[in-house]
Amino acid sequence: MTDSRPPAVRKSVRPAPAEFSIPQATSAQLKEEQARLASSGLAELGFCTKDLARAAALTWRINALKKLRDAVIPGHVYQRPEILLGVADFVGDSYQLAKLCAESKAKTIVFCGVRFMAETAAILSPDKEVLLPAPAAGCSLAESITAADVRRLKAENPGAPVAAYINTTAEVKAEADVIVTSANAARILGRLFAKSPRVIFLPDELMGRNLAAALGKKVGDELVLWKGTCIVHDHFDAFAMALYRKTYPGVRILAHTECSPELTAAVDFVGGTGDMMAYVEKTRAPFYMLVTECGLGELARTRFPHKRFVFMCRLCPHMKLTDLTAVLRALESPSPATRVTVPAEVAARARLSVKRMFELAEDTVKL
Ligand code: 13P
Ligand code: SF4
Repeated sequence: MTDSRPPAVRKSVRPAPAEFSIPQATSAQLKEEQARLASSGLAELGFCTKDLARAAALTWRINALKKLRDAVIPGHVYQRPEILLGVADFVGDSYQLAKLCAESKAKTIVFCGVRFMAETAAILSPDKEVLLPAPAAGCSLAESITAADVRRLKAENPGAPVAAYINTTAEVKAEADVIVTSANAARILGRLFAKSPRVIFLPDELMGRNLAAALGKKVGDELVLWKGTCIVHDHFDAFAMALYRKTYPGVRILAHTECSPELTAAVDFVGGTGDMMAYVEKTRAPFYMLVTECGLGELARTRFPHKRFVFMCRLCPHMKLTDLTAVLRALESPSPATRVTVPAEVAARARLSVKRMFELAEDTVKL
């Protein structure tokens, strides 16, 4: 089990440089902001008056700078709660964020998530400025495979279409035929199998094994996999499930599809973060346990205050790199490291595979 206390909010606020400067908030404005944060769900999550005051000094400035710069802040559900509830304009899973970023009319996207998500936004919106407040926020899956690895897999499996998880670099996306997310992988792979006896899915091996089981396909012969794993989801203990069921009678256990097949076989529901939230919303149970990154459980507690949640989660060190101070800094004075750009030729090829995902996930095209 991990520590579920609210993450600390840093004390210092760096002064804004002249380029994107806004006046200091009055004490009345800060009080109002603090009350807004408290009622957003942060008080429920354990933020004390001091935490709320520190957060308010940052969120007030961020929200003011956002307007000044015509910026939008997407936040992945694994982000810190003060980001999701204090400054994010939209909150969602990887699929929803990719769509919303593409549709946004804002000039600048300040992506509160990890690099592959910001890159996807840059791929879909080459004319927008895309900023990643925590430039080191990577992903163990995206780092597990290169474009050269994909080319090798394609040469070894001629004719097999490549479905790449969205948790990949822009270069890997450019080599794929279609991108998938946890929200649509089974559906899209099903459509690929209708046309081809063999499909390549990369880089998440555990998710690939779950997909093979769901689709009744043989790993290796029919579904070719890579050996990447998510450092958050590959460590959950399948054997602990029985113990939790005894301790919390009637508990509904939901697991992310990046967990091991041993674990997903022992739970009540398997899906992406968006599917898990929808399941909690639509069902009634005495307890819910969300086997995934801790951010989802915190968000669920604020969205469904009358439901009870049992904690079994892990923190993603990449997702937790973004904090309010980093977001403010990116808006005030974006450093070259925070700017996310994708070379035009790579972006053009990657865009085709991301757009293919939108078409196949939403049934707007025949294969
Ligand atoms: P989803 O929110 O799309 O389920 O993705 C989970 C994840 O691991 C993102 O890094
Ligand atoms: Fe990557 Fe796993 Fe972190 Fe998501 S939770 S960003 S898949 S390491």
